[in-house]
Amino acid sequence: MLDQSLFRTAMSKLGAAVSVVTSDGVAGKCGTTVTAVSSVTDSPATLLVCINRNSWSNKTIKANGRICVNVLAHEDEEIARIFAGMAGVPAELRFDHVAHHQGTTGAPILTSALVAFDCRISEMVECGSHTIFLAEVVQIELGEDRAGLVYFDRHYHGVAPTAQRIA
Ligand SMILES: Cc1cc2nc3c(=O)[nH]c(=O)nc-3n(C[C@H](O)[C@H](O)[C@H](O)COP(=O)(O)O)c2cc1C
Repeated sequence: MLDQSLFRTAMSKLGAAVSVVTSDGVAGKCGTTVTAVSSVTDSPATLLVCINRNSWSNKTIKANGRICVNVLAHEDEEIARIFAGMAGVPAELRFDHVAHHQGTTGAPILTSALVAFDCRISEMVECGSHTIFLAEVVQIELGEDRAGLVYFDRHYHGVAPTAQRIA
């Protein structure tokens, strides 16, 4: 089998947008920082999100059957740290540190998100350490045009929108 740390080092070269996946429902509220998000199809509009099976969020999302994918702005690096459990904030207090409101599915939408995709889970596939959640988008909330947050080479970086780029 391929060396796990080599795979992780290799994946650090694949830059990816940083999002916070939130959920609320019968199992309560949760939120976690992710990069494993991809578009699957636009008819019906569907995303995939991979969440570690050992995480508290995984169990909560399975029970709630809904998620919101909140794409973070560069200025919100601290939100990424909080929801990755890296800012010393306990999981149950994470939402006290961010302005949020409820989306169509009841999942929290982070008010400062560049864009929020509120979704219903349509399928779940277990794959090794992670669950792949296929999620049908039921509402999109577009935020302000600001720089995006990307994780590359184990560090956070900003990506400016085209209109703000220096020629
Ligand atoms: C930049 C970054 C990207 C991450 N991407 C993912 C991801 O795609 N899927 C995942 O399950 N965890 C990911 N994590 C780890 C989770 O954010 C972290 O382990 C989580 O907050 C702990 O899970 P819990 O709080 O739901 O128990 C990432 C962490 C960082 C810092």
